[in-house]
Amino acid sequence: MRIRFYDGDRESLRHLFREADHSDEAIDGYMPKGEVLVADDGAEMVGQLLLIPTGEAGVEEVKSLAVLEPRRGTGVGRALVEHAAERARGRGASRLLVSTAAADTDNLRFYQRTGFRMLRVDRDVFGPDQGYDGIVIDGIPLRDQVWLDREL
Ligand SMILES: CC(C)(COP(=O)(O)OP(=O)(O)OC[C@H]1O[C@@H](n2cnc3c(N)ncnc32)[C@H](O)[C@@H]1OP(=O)(O)O)[C@@H](O)C(=O)NCCC(=O)NCCS
Repeated sequence: MRIRFYDGDRESLRHLFREADHSDEAIDGYMPKGEVLVADDGAEMVGQLLLIPTGEAGVEEVKSLAVLEPRRGTGVGRALVEHAAERARGRGASRLLVSTAAADTDNLRFYQRTGFRMLRVDRDVFGPDQGYDGIVIDGIPLRDQVWLDREL
């Protein structure tokens, strides 16, 4: 498995973007931005990470990250985050941002295990108007968004 910069057609990675976001509308908005890293095992792409600029100097955002289910828990997500951190650092960035659903306690563990710390919570970001309707994760309604950051 190798992490590499991806310059192919991003539509062909939509199934991976969908693993991280239930809203195609939201995906359409950010998928063309920034740069994509993929985890490539030779036969297929088993993970992707989308890294975008934030508008704030020295700060980049991990906007989307997913690993195919059978390959989860084997270090692919961590490898993608470390490569993203290296690329951002190489451009002179000093901080990485990421957001996830407060309902997704698994993701909150993953990001804290990969060096991120809690920054703030934005309430009611995920609702029917944003393309997220009636979604429940581990018994918790999808509603609020948690921001985390990592110094580079
Ligand atoms: C989140 C995700 C990218 C993690 O990728 P991964 O390859 O499974 O993670 P890794 O194997 O690199 O794990 C790194 C650390 O996070 C922990 N972790 C990973 N998935 C976890 C989970 N579901 N619950 C708790 N901890 C988890 C691992 O245990 C490991 O910690 P350790 O060092 O204590 O062993 C992957 O689960 C995924 O694609 N999920 C669906 C899409 C998604 O939710 N994306 C994020 C949207 S914000």
